[in-house]
Amino acid sequence: MLTVRLASETDFPGWRQAARALRAQHIAPEEMLWTVDGSGAGLFGEAAPLPTENEPAFTVPRDFLDVAEMAILHRSDERFALLYRLLWRLAGEPHLLQVHTDPDVQKARGFAKAVGLAAHKMKAFVRFRLTAGPNGVETYVAWFEPAHRVTEMIAPFFARRFATMNFSILTPDVCVHWDTQSLAVLPGADPADAPREDTLEDYWRTYYASIFNPARLKVAAMQKEMPKRYWRNLPEARLIPDLIACAEGRTSTMVREAPSTPSSPLLSSRVVRAAQQASRDAPYDGQALTTLEEIHAGVQMCRRCDLYRDATQGVSGEGPARARMMLVGEQPGDQEDLAGHPFVGPAGRMLDKALAAAGVPREQTFVTNAVKHFKHELRGKKRIHKTPAAGEVAACRWWLENERRIVQPRVIVSLGATAALSVFGKPLAIGKMRRHALQLPDQAQGVVTYHPSYLLRLPDADAKAKAYALFVEDLKFAWSLAA
Ligand code: URA
Repeated sequence: MLTVRLASETDFPGWRQAARALRAQHIAPEEMLWTVDGSGAGLFGEAAPLPTENEPAFTVPRDFLDVAEMAILHRSDERFALLYRLLWRLAGEPHLLQVHTDPDVQKARGFAKAVGLAAHKMKAFVRFRLTAGPNGVETYVAWFEPAHRVTEMIAPFFARRFATMNFSILTPDVCVHWDTQSLAVLPGADPADAPREDTLEDYWRTYYASIFNPARLKVAAMQKEMPKRYWRNLPEARLIPDLIACAEGRTSTMVREAPSTPSSPLLSSRVVRAAQQASRDAPYDGQALTTLEEIHAGVQMCRRCDLYRDATQGVSGEGPARARMMLVGEQPGDQEDLAGHPFVGPAGRMLDKALAAAGVPREQTFVTNAVKHFKHELRGKKRIHKTPAAGEVAACRWWLENERRIVQPRVIVSLGATAALSVFGKPLAIGKMRRHALQLPDQAQGVVTYHPSYLLRLPDADAKAKAYALFVEDLKFAWSLAA
């Protein structure tokens, strides 16, 4: 027996190099033992010959390499030998991979498919928890147990998606760390190393509850998509049994409480249907709306979270359908809720003043909010503003995304932290990130600045004047980017 000792369980380059050398030297699969450094297996075999300089070149189908690269991440101990046997057989059977009934081909393709599925599940079910990392830097940490060894393969996906976040994904196989510059891969961890609960848990639960549609519940299909083995790391999984149990009751309530059609003669029945569909039934990434009119109508009927219950009406964005710049606030205030237009109260007047000082014509911008209903509590007769919860922001983000897709602004200005959370999908420190052009996935540039209400609340005149000057500077900067 000859032994090949690979550097790790996922050492595809090592396997490939060894397999090439062995095949070139006509060493049959039956004579081979494949092991991984440190596994303790195969200690007694004689080491396989090393690759030499002048081995005869041979080619293999691209399809084989694609299958092998994935299949090697499978947890089966058989995978290295199976792939070498296929490589060996390819010399005499060049079309072997097309023989789908061949047991070796079937097995290798099955391994590759299972690995692809595990990668897909990892992308969908990793949940980060916010922690203070080294030197107090905000770090997002996730614990995950992938069905196969896909962590290193998937890590660049997370790095692209959360490029500006420090994060670690801990798994029993390996851990990956991203510090906004580079990815590091370290040995596997223990579940005890991962934080359990944080303030984002509520966010996930409210978000999940808001997109859960009882009328569409198919338990078997849902559990196939979200297998139980992943539940223990999903904050929202705790809700699932209750949501399933209540689904029937909720469906009949939904039918009973279906919002009535708005009577506005301006709305065509197509618009109304699209809006109803979007506001009640559509999943988060479901049917897209195509006009601002549909959004306006849909927001009136929105039941994505409970804020509609206490608000007079929904307030959608306003401005040209192709504005170069979009301004996103937090949510309508008391006056906006009554008037049905964004930024018309005290914060709106402050915004108008600053826009004028910055030379930005408001009528050329699209002004909207992260949350479309006024959240408040009653104190006596007064309606006092309450900051929307992260789950409410997440539930309402669907509307903002539709507005973004229709308007296609070059620049999106987030006024305050809630707007930034909705626009970027994660919390941002306004003071630190202002005066930067931040790339957004929809080709727009993002700028963050203060919320005008923050300026109104500052008690000290000096501090207020300073913050106002920065606010004007930010609006000027954003407008210059939009030009
Ligand atoms: N504050 C906001 O964020 N938006 C408004 O429309 C009004 C006040």
